[in-house]
Amino acid sequence: MRKTITTALAAVLLAAVTACGDGSGGGAGNGSDGTITMGFAQVGAESGWRTANTKSIQESAKSAGIELKFSDAQQKQENQIKAIRSYIQQKVDVIAFSPVVETGWDTILLEAQRAKIPVILTDRAIDSDDTSLYETFLGSDFVEEGKKAGKWLVENTDGPVNVVELQGTTGAAPAIDRKEGFEAEIRSNPEIKVVASQTGDFTRSGGKQVMEAFLKSQPDIDVVYAHNDDMGLGAIEAIKAAGKKPGVDVKIITVDAVKDGMTALANGEINFIVECNPLLGPQLMDLAKKVVAGEEVPERVVTEETTFTQEQAKAALPDRKY
Ligand code: AHR
Repeated sequence: MRKTITTALAAVLLAAVTACGDGSGGGAGNGSDGTITMGFAQVGAESGWRTANTKSIQESAKSAGIELKFSDAQQKQENQIKAIRSYIQQKVDVIAFSPVVETGWDTILLEAQRAKIPVILTDRAIDSDDTSLYETFLGSDFVEEGKKAGKWLVENTDGPVNVVELQGTTGAAPAIDRKEGFEAEIRSNPEIKVVASQTGDFTRSGGKQVMEAFLKSQPDIDVVYAHNDDMGLGAIEAIKAAGKKPGVDVKIITVDAVKDGMTALANGEINFIVECNPLLGPQLMDLAKKVVAGEEVPERVVTEETTFTQEQAKAALPDRKY
């Protein structure tokens, strides 16, 4: 039974992997006209952020004249590994991916290295001692994002505060780092306590479900710290269903600043959002061209980001693109 499911999954994945390209393989600047082919292994479609990120990558590839082979791993590492292996077999010129989790990539990246296909990490980092396995890492500083969230809480609170934390996907860089950064900041105020912390897998339904459980098990919740907007929006639904007022009875801090999150912030249902910029496409395509041409690229490219209060969200919303 298990084998059947695995085989079916592999077939679906392979279809998805080839769907966005012509399936002929070989670019390299390899195509007869010098077209670069990129294989991109996306995490999934778990959040508004991810949807905006995918759109940015697909649109930027098109305008950069890069042929994109795109796959959606449905938040499963095994699917990403299969997609990357398929890109290696298809002899793409460059592989880019946003790792679902931090660990377990060395074997597949060694296969890419042996096939002389450069790899670019986007959005999320991996945890490996061998930095020769990838050319560069383009994305946010997630520890810094967690710190910004913690700093706002320290500055906007007095007296004892009970926080519940909605973590991102277990083992994912943004979940690990946003937790670490937040904890480092709130340490300065012993009256702020994280009384419960659980993963909501970066999804709205996950955030809602975990928040419902928190509301039953925790008698006194002052603040929700959600590692992304979607989980915060799910928490809002749970808080309302419990007869409380989000943003007033329970304060909410999230990360991302996608349109739905910003709307809730402007409406007073979220109190503070730390931005995580999903529009990585243009920078990724520039880096890919350089890497394929054998040019030097920086080891790390950090995305510039800001934060939003309720007033700032009201001002920024009309121009928010995603
Ligand atoms: O890796 C970036 C994170 O992944 C975003 O904050 C979240 O919304 C997404 O699912």
